[in-house]
Amino acid sequence: MPVSHLRDLYLVELQEMRSAEDLMARTMPTLARRASNEPLARMLSDDVGETSAHRDRLAAILGGHGADAGEHRDQSMAALVAEADKWSGMIEDPACRDTALIASAQRLQHYEIAAYGSLATWAKQLGFEEDLAVLLDILDEEKKADETLTELAKDVVNPQAAA
Ligand SMILES: [Fe+2]
Repeated sequence: MPVSHLRDLYLVELQEMRSAEDLMARTMPTLARRASNEPLARMLSDDVGETSAHRDRLAAILGGHGADAGEHRDQSMAALVAEADKWSGMIEDPACRDTALIASAQRLQHYEIAAYGSLATWAKQLGFEEDLAVLLDILDEEKKADETLTELAKDVVNPQAAA
């Protein structure tokens, strides 16, 4: 799709994020299996459902605009996910691995928060009010997931790794 208007850029970014959510949904079960801390493992595996729902909501928005949901793949998320997979796969100490898993998961979340922030701003500027409501909803869920990871890291996982 040639990009010559904010609407085109908006649709391409939606396509990129749909692929990012899809990749995360496929990778999260592996990361969850590597977690030793029970609440962390549960949170990572619960995130698969939320991530799949985000992917499907983005596909629905793209469908509403007559855009092909699978046209673009996000290379930045692919790199972040590959790094998370490599890192968590090479750490032997369970507590340190949990700490690294949270750091990786938060990197993915922060990338998503940045992208959804831009998408929500663009939707508002373009007058796509229904899209905006969905994007703000997703953004809110990403922020909540990030906060939960921060609490888990500070209260439980990092102290165990430092002990
Ligand atoms: Fe998401």
